[in-house]
Amino acid sequence: MSSMKLSVIGTGYLGATHAASMAELGFEVLGVDVDKVKVDSLSRGQLPFHEPGLPELLKKHVDSGRLRFTTSFDEAGSFADIHFIAVGTPQRAGEHGADMTYVDASVAGIARAATRDTLIVGKSTVPVGSARRLKDLARDGAGVGIEIDLAWNPEFLREGFAVEDTLRPDRLVVGTDSDSAVAKLREVYAYALGRDTPFISTDYETAELVKVAANAFLATKISFINAFAEVTETVGGDIRVLADAIGLDKRIGRRFLNAGVGFGGGCLPKDIRALQARVSEIGLDSTMRFLNEVDEVNLRRRDRVVHIVHELCPELDGKSVAVLGTAFKPNSDDVRDSPALDVAGRLFNEGAEVRVYDPQANSNAAKRFPRLNYCQSLEEAVEGADVILLLTEWDEFVQMRPETLAPLVAHRQIVDGRNVLRTEQWEAAGWIVRALGRRA
Ligand code: UGA
Repeated sequence: MSSMKLSVIGTGYLGATHAASMAELGFEVLGVDVDKVKVDSLSRGQLPFHEPGLPELLKKHVDSGRLRFTTSFDEAGSFADIHFIAVGTPQRAGEHGADMTYVDASVAGIARAATRDTLIVGKSTVPVGSARRLKDLARDGAGVGIEIDLAWNPEFLREGFAVEDTLRPDRLVVGTDSDSAVAKLREVYAYALGRDTPFISTDYETAELVKVAANAFLATKISFINAFAEVTETVGGDIRVLADAIGLDKRIGRRFLNAGVGFGGGCLPKDIRALQARVSEIGLDSTMRFLNEVDEVNLRRRDRVVHIVHELCPELDGKSVAVLGTAFKPNSDDVRDSPALDVAGRLFNEGAEVRVYDPQANSNAAKRFPRLNYCQSLEEAVEGADVILLLTEWDEFVQMRPETLAPLVAHRQIVDGRNVLRTEQWEAAGWIVRALGRRA
């Protein structure tokens, strides 16, 4: 086992998962965050968000002493040989570009604090061209005689599968101009390389672009099927069968072809906007213009759900709408850019009484949209409903039975915003079912 010590700067989804996973591999790890409340919580072994499997890993390694947390860059600078940067790059307020404030501050902070030759490894999603700039920033800020190397090593983890994706990645990508950085990262990731995980060693720009290209491709795939959903809603046809049929072509593949209320979360929406903004900045105004369409198709899906509710409840004022799900996807408590919460808020603003239930995301949703009526169970949410909206496909909702819910609701009407219900069963039990991508 390597004796290298690691720090992870930024302890959100990405950083907390990376830190705990590296500890699981046997490294001594120090997590760094400017948020003292978060650091205190993590130091007690408590994860401040929902991520399956991560609480156990965190507790195990906080208890073993292999994983600690601090707010001090100085402590990290003298402790670790490699510093991973895992802070956020949110969408800049009022613009499409990425806000690099936290990445810049972290790189500058750790370069200043480093007490020996150091490797900084960026994991955050950044606009192409950032790594080269950050290398200069780090070298300019380092103490006299201290050598700093920098590599970009994008992360492809999915929320809900964060630990699995970190410990068993599909591929590892490292962009750098330093052979020694590549050697060190091969040592860190020896566990995965031992299982023949592809290791792609490349330049900075390619590594940065691989990450945004992957997310842009996934977003495009979702909007592609959702554009066809608009067509089948109009001419007839079943979007699920269409997706299955084209997905059987191995060149296309069935994954990420689930039509529904569209993509949200802290990554795909902001990444396609940031990519367009960056590419325009470098003078290629029209190159990524199709991503505008990808974004628009995606947002139109939310309009469509609101429209269907109006069709089912022409006098929306005072009607009871049960919204099942507020997280942007199941197995997550994340409501950032959540299609479900957006739709719930809009229906509330249009006068409906909105009763919301999510197995994990109620409290995060309530912070963003306090005026909705948050319920503690599925049954409580659907009590007296004029229409039910299934907007996040938690298992609990996929497995609902029409005959169990029928006695609770005022009207047997349901909108399947994720195409997960067995429509025939519901219709046989006297329900009106509306689904995205299928004609009424
Ligand atoms: C996404 C990528 O999948 C990860 O590979 C990447 O590392 C991550 O962003 C990131 O940049 O950090 P994540 O945001 O966790 O991961 O969520 P996804 O599983 O990609 O789902 C994104 C959204 O697309 C969700 O709202 C989901 O409901 C929606 N979706 C997904 C569909 O509407 N249809 C599909 O077929 C698949």
